[in-house]
Amino acid sequence: MRKKMVAGNWKMYKTAGEAAILVQNLEDVARDVLGDVEVVVAPPFTALHSVSTVIALDKSPIRLGAQDMFWEEEGAYTGEIAPRMLSDLETSYVIVGHSERRAYFGETDEIVNRKARAVFAHGMTPIVCCGESIETREAGAEADFIAGQIRAGLAGIETMDAMKLVIAYEPIWAIGTGKTASPEQAEEVCAHIRALVCEIFDDVVAARVRILYGGSVKPENAALFFAQPDIDGALVGGAALSVEAFAPIVVAARP
Ligand code: 13P
Repeated sequence: MRKKMVAGNWKMYKTAGEAAILVQNLEDVARDVLGDVEVVVAPPFTALHSVSTVIALDKSPIRLGAQDMFWEEEGAYTGEIAPRMLSDLETSYVIVGHSERRAYFGETDEIVNRKARAVFAHGMTPIVCCGESIETREAGAEADFIAGQIRAGLAGIETMDAMKLVIAYEPIWAIGTGKTASPEQAEEVCAHIRALVCEIFDDVVAARVRILYGGSVKPENAALFFAQPDIDGALVGGAALSVEAFAPIVVAARP
């Protein structure tokens, strides 16, 4: 069966020092659920090195994620981070196509796709994000919109790579708003995504791909999402910034 994943997207929070302390403080809970739940943290770029060092020194079961990556090998791309810079720090996962990157930094489905393929090409695994706006949801067009994002975002990915893929469904209207999708609404879209993955690849891939829900996941509501058959974990923003909020979400993911 699919192992649950709880991933913390720390967004633009935490200095290198603060991040190192937080990941250290998460080690106990990650050890408690070891084997059942994969715990991932995605600090900002400036904290990847300190967090990576803590993980290595403590032989921590926590996996390192990055929040973004450029697809080129290297070059004159001021401000960008290359794949090898992340793999060198033992980064396991890279979030690509987060709605905040799409909204504030103009990332298109094509950019998301190039990034996702580059992540695989460098031996890491992308967490490909999708999610509709409130206008799209109110127009009842979310299924088609998500299908467009998924088809474009996963174009050209090899079946062998796709087995490892992680997809995060994050309705934009639920991010940082305190308003979540209901577990049934989230399950409906996640089941739809799994069916799309089956169409694009095959049923073996669809059975393996992990699909996370994200958007105001908190200790109080996490278990309701994890109980859904097509939801394999959570991508957590605000509640990932403290041990008090994140640890109970990790525990809730235990089968
Ligand atoms: P919140 O949990 O703060 O709503 O953020 C969700 C998110 O965007 C995770 O990537």
